[in-house]
Amino acid sequence: MTEALEQSLLDRLGRPVRDLRVSVTDRCNFRCRYCMPREHFGAGHEFLPRTQLLSFEELARVAGVVAALGVVKVRLTGGEPLLRANLERLVSQLAQIPRLEVALTTNGSLLKRSAQALADAGLSRLTVSLDALDPEIFRRMTDADYTPGDVLEGIAAAERAGLSRIKINTVVRRGVNDSEVLPLARHFHGSGHVLRFIEYMDVGGTNDWSRRDVVTADEIVARIDSELPLERLEPSAFGEVAERHRYRSGGGEIGVIASITKPFCGNCTRLRLSSEGRLYTCLFATRGEDLRERLRSGATDAELAEFVANLWRQREDRYSELRVPERRRLPRIEMSYIGG
Ligand code: GTP
Ligand code: 5AD
Ligand code: SF4
Ligand code: SF4
Repeated sequence: MTEALEQSLLDRLGRPVRDLRVSVTDRCNFRCRYCMPREHFGAGHEFLPRTQLLSFEELARVAGVVAALGVVKVRLTGGEPLLRANLERLVSQLAQIPRLEVALTTNGSLLKRSAQALADAGLSRLTVSLDALDPEIFRRMTDADYTPGDVLEGIAAAERAGLSRIKINTVVRRGVNDSEVLPLARHFHGSGHVLRFIEYMDVGGTNDWSRRDVVTADEIVARIDSELPLERLEPSAFGEVAERHRYRSGGGEIGVIASITKPFCGNCTRLRLSSEGRLYTCLFATRGEDLRERLRSGATDAELAEFVANLWRQREDRYSELRVPERRRLPRIEMSYIGG
């Protein structure tokens, strides 16, 4: 570890805080079966009212405070972050914070119309989810009136806007979209973008997860390797979630995110903020800390920093390494609430 990391704020397991993942809205225009199934997120579901959401100014203030504590990357997620009006204004405010990289994870459906504005505002990295190229399979995964073509057009618009080395995230569910692993690999081979396959996770409490639905990272790598030979690469950054592989023939790299079979809690450097301003130290947390109340009742930056630092110092989360069955029965936050 570098000297800079050693000096930064550490949690009980010695992990520094490096990333802030911000959910800017709990709404989404997709209803992915693995994330927001319609039975739970239908007409009767109450999303957060507008007044409960942190404003862009409040979000930028929190980002500035955590940047001073060692955070070097803020990732905007949702729900679907591009449903939040004028998101580029937030990107621009965040991009002005020294040494802070601004990243976005989106489902890509609305990217075509906003890619240029996001790039102009200073977005440095982009991740787009795409679970299938086949329209029927895409629909079965996302349960929405969009097509893979919409997402590919969004990716193309982002390329034109100058966003390079885009990451493409694919959640793999056995028997639903695992037949798309090879077509996706062929499609993005040589594109300059990094396709990453994610093991389907037991996150939240609505997706009826079963271990049988998980296609393991090793199986995914083996399938691709049989047609497009791969070799393993070293991690490019501390705390990176994806295991990297390169095509032996050239053509770029892929990643696999093995949160089920090879958990990466050991170097998890992520702090999460929900759209209503609750702070969480784990994707599988059962409760968060109310930051909004502090923001709105006149806390100073120093007081906010002290609060966040104390929360981080006490942190000992490592759910994916433990995967305790009892904890799976506790009410957990949804991925759409806290971001992926
Ligand atoms: P970069 O390394 O900057 O690309 O960011 P990232 O990989 O964290 O961003 P992205 O939103 O693309 O995350 C990829 C996926 O990895 C997420 O959607 C989750 O499925 C999974 N993931 C990310 N962070 C965590 C985590 O802390 N715990 C677990 N279990 N899974 C995570
Ligand atoms: N397991 C794995 N990945 C998931 N995502 C959402 N729900 C799950 C889950 N249950 C992914 C999305 C997106 C990212 C933000 O999180 O597909 O790529
Ligand atoms: Fe929306 Fe992303 Fe969840 Fe799908 S995975 S429902 S696109 S937030
Ligand atoms: Fe980090 Fe929690 Fe995910 Fe482990 S389970 S990698 S501690 S967010």
